[in-house]
Amino acid sequence: MELLYEGKAKKVYSTDNPDELMVEYKDDATAFNGVKRGTIVSKGIVNNKVSAHFFKLLEENGVATHFIRLLSGREMLVKRVEIVPVEVIVRNYSAGSIAKRLGLDEGIKFPFPVIEYSYKSDELGDPMINDDHIRALGLATDAEMAAIRGMALKVNEVLSNYLLHKDIILADFKLEFGRYHGEVILADEISPDTCRFWDKNTMEKLDKDRFRRDLGGVEEAYNEILKRLTGESVL
Ligand code: TMP
Repeated sequence: MELLYEGKAKKVYSTDNPDELMVEYKDDATAFNGVKRGTIVSKGIVNNKVSAHFFKLLEENGVATHFIRLLSGREMLVKRVEIVPVEVIVRNYSAGSIAKRLGLDEGIKFPFPVIEYSYKSDELGDPMINDDHIRALGLATDAEMAAIRGMALKVNEVLSNYLLHKDIILADFKLEFGRYHGEVILADEISPDTCRFWDKNTMEKLDKDRFRRDLGGVEEAYNEILKRLTGESVL
């Protein structure tokens, strides 16, 4: 197997099958476009297992994903896609950059899920873009964006309902999609790195904001998410 790409949180390897890749989830953590760096012990295992758990749940609910199967604690086999360079953010509650940008307190529930797009570019710091930018730059077709928007809302519905049964509020999250044999499918990961999870009863943060904001208890929060979803523990 050949290392094809190393990102901030994952490594991607080729396999014998040209249609399949292996993803290895790392413990490395970055924030603010790589300015803040650190390690979150066992994060790779949590993110691999949590992503697999969500991808299976989504497939059961009719959302096509790149997930094939888990290979080990830190590794999964996925379909090889061409990533659409648009990050899709779905927000149920105000938090993070939208709170800052619009001068909102955190934790305000929006009357409907608010969707934002970012241009996937580390050099530019993933700037926010709109449908016209996506079309004008040719990042995705209108048909692809219609499919992506529909899938993002479906992911939100399925995961929000599922997580509420685990006493977790899904405040917001980021998705990436890929092209696979003419179809757009869900790719990348869905984990405490890419979602805001709040405990429903205490409003405690159970996600990467604990690392971004130096709140302590980072590993414990990641482990808590894994435990509530799968019953497993890595600490
Ligand atoms: P934001 O409030 O910082 O824009 O983040 C919105 C959501 O997107 C949040 O759940 C964290 C996630 N996210 C990523 O997955 N990757 C990123 O690089 C950033 C900035 C946010």
